[in-house]
Amino acid sequence: MYPIIQFALLPLLFTSAQSTPTPRSLPAKVHARTSSPGHGTLTTTTNGSIIHAVINNPPINLWDYKLAADVSSFVDTLATNVNTTTNPKVVIFSSANPDFFIAHYEIHALDASSPVLPPGNGTLIGEQLLRTRTNLATLPVIFIAEINGRTSGAGNEFAVQCDIRYAGPATSVSHLEVGFGLPPGAGGIQFLVKLIGRARALEYILSGRAVDAVTAAAIGWVNKAFGSAEELTQETDALAERIAAFPEQGLAAIKARVNVQKPSDTDLQGDNDLFTQLASTKVTQEAASLFLKVSENESAGTFELNLPKDLTEIVPPGS
Ligand SMILES: *[C@@H]1O[C@H](CO)[C@@H](O)[C@H](O)[C@H]1NC(C)=O
Ligand SMILES: *[C@@H]1O[C@H](CO)[C@@H](O)[C@H](O)[C@H]1NC(C)=O
Ligand SMILES: *[C@@H]1O[C@H](CO)[C@@H](O)[C@H](O)[C@H]1NC(C)=O
Ligand SMILES: *[C@@H]1O[C@H](CO)[C@@H](O)[C@H](O)[C@H]1NC(C)=O
Repeated sequence: MYPIIQFALLPLLFTSAQSTPTPRSLPAKVHARTSSPGHGTLTTTTNGSIIHAVINNPPINLWDYKLAADVSSFVDTLATNVNTTTNPKVVIFSSANPDFFIAHYEIHALDASSPVLPPGNGTLIGEQLLRTRTNLATLPVIFIAEINGRTSGAGNEFAVQCDIRYAGPATSVSHLEVGFGLPPGAGGIQFLVKLIGRARALEYILSGRAVDAVTAAAIGWVNKAFGSAEELTQETDALAERIAAFPEQGLAAIKARVNVQKPSDTDLQGDNDLFTQLASTKVTQEAASLFLKVSENESAGTFELNLPKDLTEIVPPGS
Protein backbone atom coordinates (compact mmCIF):
# COMPACT_ATOMS: atom_id res chain seq x y z
CA MET A 1 0.00 0.00 0.00
CA TYR A 2 1.98 2.96 -1.17
CA PRO A 3 -0.05 5.81 -2.59
CA ILE A 4 2.92 8.14 -3.00
CA ILE A 5 2.46 11.29 -4.97
CA GLN A 6 4.72 11.30 -6.29
CA PHE A 7 20.83 8.07 -26.10
CA ALA A 8 23.61 9.46 -30.07
CA LEU A 9 27.17 8.91 -29.00
CA LEU A 10 30.23 10.94 -29.81
CA PRO A 11 33.74 9.58 -29.77
CA LEU A 12 35.85 10.14 -26.71
CA LEU A 13 37.18 13.62 -26.84
CA PHE A 14 40.71 12.67 -27.69
CA THR A 15 41.19 15.54 -30.07
CA SER A 16 44.42 16.41 -31.73
CA ALA A 17 44.82 19.25 -29.24
CA GLN A 18 45.28 16.70 -26.46
CA SER A 19 48.50 14.82 -26.00
CA THR A 20 46.84 11.44 -25.39
CA PRO A 21 48.72 8.95 -27.51
CA THR A 22 46.11 6.50 -28.72
CA PRO A 23 42.31 6.84 -28.79
CA ARG A 24 40.76 4.30 -26.46
CA SER A 25 38.07 2.26 -28.12
CA LEU A 26 34.96 0.96 -26.44
CA PRO A 27 35.11 -2.59 -25.14
CA ALA A 28 34.29 -5.21 -27.72
CA LYS A 29 31.23 -6.41 -25.79
CA VAL A 30 28.24 -5.77 -27.99
CA HIS A 31 24.67 -5.91 -26.83
CA ALA A 32 21.64 -6.44 -28.94
CA ARG A 33 19.21 -3.59 -29.16
CA THR A 34 17.16 -3.70 -26.02
CA SER A 35 13.48 -3.91 -26.60
CA SER A 36 11.18 -2.52 -23.96
CA PRO A 37 7.89 -2.19 -25.78
CA GLY A 38 5.55 -1.97 -22.74
CA HIS A 39 3.55 1.21 -23.09
CA GLY A 40 6.17 2.74 -25.37
CA THR A 41 7.15 5.55 -23.01
CA LEU A 42 10.80 4.47 -22.79
CA THR A 43 12.94 3.79 -25.85
CA THR A 44 16.24 2.09 -25.20
CA THR A 45 19.10 1.88 -27.65
CA THR A 46 22.26 -0.05 -26.90
CA ASN A 47 25.65 0.99 -28.22
CA GLY A 48 28.59 -1.03 -26.93
CA SER A 49 28.29 -1.01 -23.16
CA ILE A 50 26.13 2.11 -22.99
CA ILE A 51 22.34 2.21 -23.11
CA HIS A 52 20.49 5.38 -24.02
CA ALA A 53 17.04 5.35 -22.42
CA VAL A 54 14.79 8.12 -23.71
CA ILE A 55 11.65 9.02 -21.77
CA ASN A 56 8.68 10.01 -23.91
CA ASN A 57 5.31 10.05 -22.20
CA PRO A 58 3.26 12.92 -23.68
CA PRO A 59 2.13 15.45 -22.85
CA ILE A 60 4.31 16.16 -19.79
CA ASN A 61 6.28 12.97 -19.00
CA LEU A 62 4.13 12.29 -15.97
CA TRP A 63 5.23 9.46 -13.66
CA ASP A 64 1.94 7.69 -14.38
CA TYR A 65 1.12 4.01 -14.72
CA LYS A 66 2.70 3.87 -18.19
CA LEU A 67 6.04 5.51 -17.44
CA ALA A 68 6.24 3.81 -14.02
CA ALA A 69 5.74 0.40 -15.66
CA ASP A 70 8.18 1.01 -18.52
CA VAL A 71 11.01 2.48 -16.46
CA SER A 72 10.65 -0.08 -13.68
CA SER A 73 10.51 -2.99 -16.11
CA PHE A 74 13.71 -1.74 -17.82
CA VAL A 75 15.52 -1.29 -14.50
CA ASP A 76 14.16 -4.63 -13.22
CA THR A 77 15.77 -6.29 -16.25
CA LEU A 78 19.11 -4.73 -15.33
CA ALA A 79 18.64 -6.03 -11.78
CA THR A 80 17.90 -9.53 -13.08
CA ASN A 81 21.02 -9.44 -15.26
CA VAL A 82 23.46 -8.21 -12.63
CA ASN A 83 26.96 -9.59 -13.25
CA THR A 84 26.05 -11.00 -16.65
CA THR A 85 27.47 -9.82 -19.92
CA THR A 86 24.07 -8.62 -21.07
CA ASN A 87 24.18 -5.65 -18.74
CA PRO A 88 25.54 -2.28 -19.80
CA LYS A 89 28.19 -0.38 -17.87
CA VAL A 90 26.41 2.94 -18.21
CA VAL A 91 22.79 3.98 -18.74
CA ILE A 92 21.87 7.53 -19.79
CA PHE A 93 18.30 8.65 -19.09
CA SER A 94 17.14 11.60 -21.15
CA SER A 95 13.80 13.03 -22.30
CA ALA A 96 12.31 13.39 -25.77
CA ASN A 97 10.26 16.31 -24.45
CA PRO A 98 12.18 19.62 -24.45
CA ASP A 99 9.92 21.07 -21.73
CA PHE A 100 9.86 18.21 -19.25
CA PHE A 101 12.32 15.60 -17.97
CA ILE A 102 9.76 13.90 -15.69
CA ALA A 103 7.01 16.31 -14.60
CA HIS A 104 6.01 14.70 -11.30
CA TYR A 105 3.99 11.87 -9.78
CA GLU A 106 0.52 11.04 -11.10
CA ILE A 107 -1.71 13.05 -8.76
CA HIS A 108 -4.68 10.77 -9.43
CA ALA A 109 -2.69 8.14 -7.50
CA LEU A 110 -3.01 10.41 -4.49
CA ASP A 111 -6.57 11.64 -4.81
CA ALA A 112 -9.06 9.09 -3.46
CA SER A 113 -11.95 11.05 -4.99
CA SER A 114 -10.45 10.81 -8.50
CA PRO A 115 -8.32 7.67 -8.48
CA VAL A 116 -6.21 6.19 -11.23
CA LEU A 117 -8.54 4.35 -13.58
CA PRO A 118 -7.89 0.87 -15.00
CA PRO A 119 -5.73 -0.30 -16.64
CA GLY A 120 -3.70 1.95 -14.33
CA ASN A 121 -3.17 1.00 -10.70
CA GLY A 122 -2.26 3.73 -8.20
CA THR A 123 -0.69 1.36 -5.69
CA LEU A 124 1.48 -0.22 -8.33
CA ILE A 125 2.78 3.18 -9.54
CA GLY A 126 4.13 3.83 -6.05
CA GLU A 127 5.62 0.36 -5.69
CA GLN A 128 7.37 0.71 -9.03
CA LEU A 129 8.82 4.07 -8.02
CA LEU A 130 10.26 2.62 -4.81
CA ARG A 131 11.71 -0.44 -6.51
CA THR A 132 13.30 1.73 -9.21
CA ARG A 133 14.77 3.96 -6.50
CA THR A 134 16.43 1.00 -4.80
CA ASN A 135 17.76 -0.41 -8.07
CA LEU A 136 19.20 2.88 -9.36
CA ALA A 137 21.07 3.44 -6.15
CA THR A 138 22.43 -0.06 -5.71
CA LEU A 139 22.93 -1.79 -9.08
CA PRO A 140 26.50 -2.05 -10.36
CA VAL A 141 25.52 0.01 -13.42
CA ILE A 142 26.31 3.74 -13.65
CA PHE A 143 23.15 5.79 -14.18
CA ILE A 144 23.46 9.27 -15.67
CA ALA A 145 20.48 11.63 -15.75
CA GLU A 146 20.69 13.97 -18.76
CA ILE A 147 18.23 16.56 -17.50
CA ASN A 148 16.66 19.28 -19.59
CA GLY A 149 13.24 20.70 -18.84
CA ARG A 150 11.17 20.58 -15.70
CA THR A 151 11.36 17.86 -13.13
CA SER A 152 9.63 17.93 -9.77
CA GLY A 153 8.57 15.59 -6.99
CA ALA A 154 8.97 11.98 -8.07
CA GLY A 155 10.78 13.21 -11.20
CA ASN A 156 13.42 14.87 -9.08
CA GLU A 157 13.58 11.82 -6.83
CA PHE A 158 14.37 9.75 -9.90
CA ALA A 159 17.03 12.28 -10.97
CA VAL A 160 18.78 12.52 -7.60
CA GLN A 161 18.92 8.74 -7.32
CA CYS A 162 20.86 8.47 -10.54
CA ASP A 163 24.63 8.44 -9.96
CA ILE A 164 25.50 11.59 -11.97
CA ARG A 165 23.37 14.49 -13.23
CA TYR A 166 24.16 16.79 -16.16
CA ALA A 167 21.71 19.61 -16.86
CA GLY A 168 20.73 21.65 -19.90
CA PRO A 169 19.44 25.24 -20.13
CA ALA A 170 15.72 24.36 -19.79
CA THR A 171 16.29 22.61 -16.46
CA SER A 172 14.02 23.36 -13.51
CA VAL A 173 14.37 21.00 -10.54
CA SER A 174 12.07 21.18 -7.53
CA HIS A 175 9.93 19.40 -4.98
CA LEU A 176 6.19 20.10 -4.94
CA GLU A 177 5.12 17.81 -2.09
CA VAL A 178 4.93 20.70 0.39
CA GLY A 179 1.90 22.00 -1.53
CA PHE A 180 0.09 18.81 -0.60
CA GLY A 181 1.09 18.99 3.06
CA LEU A 182 3.54 16.14 2.48
CA PRO A 183 7.25 15.37 2.69
CA PRO A 184 8.84 13.84 -0.43
CA GLY A 185 8.29 10.09 0.12
CA ALA A 186 10.51 8.17 -2.28
CA GLY A 187 13.99 9.32 -1.34
CA GLY A 188 13.83 12.98 -2.36
CA ILE A 189 14.67 14.23 1.10
CA GLN A 190 17.52 11.88 2.00
CA PHE A 191 19.28 11.99 -1.38
CA LEU A 192 18.90 15.75 -1.75
CA VAL A 193 20.26 16.46 1.74
CA LYS A 194 23.39 14.48 0.83
CA LEU A 195 23.79 16.52 -2.35
CA ILE A 196 23.09 20.09 -1.24
CA GLY A 197 23.23 20.01 2.57
CA ARG A 198 20.64 20.46 5.28
CA ALA A 199 19.98 24.19 5.00
CA ARG A 200 19.52 24.23 1.22
CA ALA A 201 17.45 21.04 1.25
CA LEU A 202 15.19 22.72 3.79
CA GLU A 203 15.09 25.95 1.75
CA TYR A 204 14.00 24.22 -1.45
CA ILE A 205 11.79 21.46 -0.08
CA LEU A 206 9.97 23.80 2.34
CA SER A 207 9.45 26.54 -0.25
CA GLY A 208 8.69 24.30 -3.20
CA ARG A 209 10.87 26.68 -5.23
CA ALA A 210 12.61 25.60 -8.40
CA VAL A 211 16.30 25.81 -9.20
CA ASP A 212 17.72 26.38 -12.69
CA ALA A 213 20.66 24.47 -14.17
CA VAL A 214 23.34 27.02 -13.27
CA THR A 215 22.19 27.33 -9.65
CA ALA A 216 21.69 23.57 -9.39
CA ALA A 217 25.30 23.04 -10.49
CA ALA A 218 26.59 25.72 -8.12
CA ILE A 219 25.02 24.02 -5.09
CA GLY A 220 25.60 20.40 -6.11
CA TRP A 221 22.04 19.41 -7.02
CA VAL A 222 23.44 18.54 -10.48
CA ASN A 223 27.08 17.94 -11.40
CA LYS A 224 27.31 20.40 -14.30
CA ALA A 225 25.21 22.84 -16.30
CA PHE A 226 25.53 23.26 -20.06
CA GLY A 227 24.53 26.23 -22.20
CA SER A 228 22.74 24.32 -24.96
CA ALA A 229 20.87 21.05 -25.43
CA GLU A 230 23.49 20.01 -28.00
CA GLU A 231 26.35 20.58 -25.61
CA LEU A 232 24.47 18.72 -22.89
CA THR A 233 24.06 15.66 -25.11
CA GLN A 234 27.65 15.78 -26.38
CA GLU A 235 29.16 16.09 -22.94
CA THR A 236 26.88 13.43 -21.42
CA ASP A 237 27.82 11.00 -24.19
CA ALA A 238 31.51 11.81 -23.81
CA LEU A 239 31.33 11.18 -20.05
CA ALA A 240 29.46 7.90 -20.56
CA GLU A 241 32.02 6.71 -23.14
CA ARG A 242 34.90 7.64 -20.92
CA ILE A 243 33.44 5.72 -17.97
CA ALA A 244 32.52 2.75 -20.17
CA ALA A 245 36.13 2.52 -21.37
CA PHE A 246 37.18 1.27 -17.93
CA PRO A 247 36.93 -2.26 -16.46
CA GLU A 248 33.49 -3.23 -15.24
CA GLN A 249 34.73 -4.60 -11.93
CA GLY A 250 36.27 -1.26 -11.02
CA LEU A 251 33.10 0.67 -11.88
CA ALA A 252 31.04 -1.71 -9.73
CA ALA A 253 33.53 -1.60 -6.87
CA ILE A 254 33.71 2.20 -6.88
CA LYS A 255 29.93 2.60 -6.84
CA ALA A 256 29.64 0.00 -4.07
CA ARG A 257 32.18 1.83 -1.89
CA VAL A 258 30.75 5.30 -2.58
CA ASN A 259 27.43 3.79 -1.53
CA VAL A 260 28.78 3.59 2.01
CA GLN A 261 27.66 7.24 2.03
CA LYS A 262 24.22 6.71 0.56
CA PRO A 263 21.06 7.33 2.59
CA SER A 264 20.21 4.46 4.90
CA ASP A 265 17.34 2.12 4.12
CA THR A 266 15.87 2.97 7.52
CA ASP A 267 15.77 6.68 6.75
CA LEU A 268 14.35 6.05 3.28
CA GLN A 269 11.67 3.84 4.78
CA GLY A 270 10.93 6.54 7.35
CA ASP A 271 10.23 9.10 4.61
CA ASN A 272 8.01 6.62 2.85
CA ASP A 273 6.07 5.77 6.00
CA LEU A 274 5.43 9.39 6.90
CA PHE A 275 4.37 10.20 3.36
CA THR A 276 1.94 7.29 3.34
CA GLN A 277 0.55 8.20 6.73
CA LEU A 278 -0.11 11.82 5.76
CA ALA A 279 -1.37 11.11 2.23
CA SER A 280 -4.82 10.12 3.45
CA THR A 281 -5.38 13.30 5.49
CA LYS A 282 -8.07 15.80 4.57
CA VAL A 283 -5.48 18.48 3.76
CA THR A 284 -3.64 16.29 1.27
CA GLN A 285 -6.82 14.98 -0.29
CA GLU A 286 -8.19 18.49 -0.77
CA ALA A 287 -4.88 19.73 -2.18
CA ALA A 288 -4.75 16.82 -4.62
CA SER A 289 -8.26 17.58 -5.85
CA LEU A 290 -7.38 21.25 -6.24
CA PHE A 291 -4.21 20.31 -8.11
CA LEU A 292 -6.16 18.21 -10.61
CA LYS A 293 -8.62 21.06 -11.08
CA VAL A 294 -6.16 23.90 -11.63
CA SER A 295 -3.84 21.76 -13.75
CA GLU A 296 -6.82 20.56 -15.82
CA ASN A 297 -5.93 17.00 -14.98
CA GLU A 298 -2.22 17.48 -15.47
CA SER A 299 -2.44 18.83 -19.01
CA ALA A 300 0.43 20.74 -20.63
CA GLY A 301 -1.22 24.06 -19.76
CA THR A 302 -0.13 27.20 -17.95
CA PHE A 303 -0.23 25.69 -14.48
CA GLU A 304 2.03 22.72 -15.27
CA LEU A 305 4.33 24.87 -17.41
CA ASN A 306 4.66 27.39 -14.58
CA LEU A 307 5.11 24.81 -11.83
CA PRO A 308 6.14 25.12 -9.09
CA LYS A 309 5.51 28.89 -9.24
CA ASP A 310 1.75 28.72 -8.59
CA LEU A 311 1.93 25.82 -6.14
CA THR A 312 0.25 27.86 -3.40
CA GLU A 313 -2.97 27.71 -5.48
CA ILE A 314 -3.56 24.14 -4.33
CA VAL A 315 -3.26 24.84 -0.63
CA PRO A 316 -6.64 24.22 1.03
CA PRO A 317 -7.93 27.35 2.81
CA GLY A 318 -7.17 27.35 6.52
CA SER A 319 -4.56 24.61 6.36
C1 LIG B 1 28.07 4.08 -31.07
O1 LIG B 1 29.30 4.35 -30.45
C2 LIG B 1 30.37 4.54 -31.38
C3 LIG B 1 31.67 4.62 -30.59
O2 LIG B 1 31.67 5.71 -29.77
C4 LIG B 1 30.09 5.79 -32.20
O3 LIG B 1 31.12 6.04 -33.13
C5 LIG B 1 28.76 5.61 -32.93
O4 LIG B 1 28.41 6.80 -33.61
C6 LIG B 1 27.66 5.22 -31.97
N1 LIG B 1 26.48 4.85 -32.74
C7 LIG B 1 25.30 5.32 -32.46
C8 LIG B 1 24.17 4.83 -33.31
O5 LIG B 1 25.11 6.11 -31.56
C1 LIG C 1 28.02 -9.12 -8.54
O1 LIG C 1 29.44 -9.17 -8.45
C2 LIG C 1 29.97 -8.45 -7.34
C3 LIG C 1 31.49 -8.45 -7.44
O2 LIG C 1 31.97 -9.73 -7.70
C4 LIG C 1 29.47 -9.09 -6.04
O3 LIG C 1 29.94 -8.35 -4.95
C5 LIG C 1 27.95 -9.03 -6.04
O4 LIG C 1 27.45 -9.69 -4.92
C6 LIG C 1 27.37 -9.68 -7.27
N1 LIG C 1 25.94 -9.48 -7.30
C7 LIG C 1 25.08 -10.42 -7.62
C8 LIG C 1 23.66 -10.07 -7.52
O5 LIG C 1 25.43 -11.54 -8.00
C1 LIG D 1 -2.85 -3.00 -7.83
O1 LIG D 1 -1.51 -3.27 -7.49
C2 LIG D 1 -1.39 -3.84 -6.19
C3 LIG D 1 0.07 -3.87 -5.83
O2 LIG D 1 0.84 -4.50 -6.82
C4 LIG D 1 -2.04 -5.21 -6.19
O3 LIG D 1 -1.94 -5.78 -4.91
C5 LIG D 1 -3.51 -5.04 -6.55
O4 LIG D 1 -4.10 -6.30 -6.66
C6 LIG D 1 -3.65 -4.30 -7.86
N1 LIG D 1 -5.06 -3.98 -8.07
C7 LIG D 1 -5.70 -4.35 -9.15
C8 LIG D 1 -7.13 -3.95 -9.24
O5 LIG D 1 -5.17 -5.01 -10.07
C1 LIG E 1 -10.63 15.67 -14.89
O1 LIG E 1 -10.94 14.29 -14.77
C2 LIG E 1 -12.14 14.08 -14.03
C3 LIG E 1 -12.26 12.60 -13.72
O2 LIG E 1 -11.73 11.80 -14.74
C4 LIG E 1 -13.31 14.64 -14.84
O3 LIG E 1 -14.51 14.45 -14.13
C5 LIG E 1 -13.07 16.14 -15.03
O4 LIG E 1 -14.07 16.67 -15.84
C6 LIG E 1 -11.72 16.40 -15.67
N1 LIG E 1 -11.47 17.83 -15.64
C7 LIG E 1 -10.89 18.49 -16.65
C8 LIG E 1 -10.72 19.97 -16.48
O5 LIG E 1 -10.53 17.91 -17.67
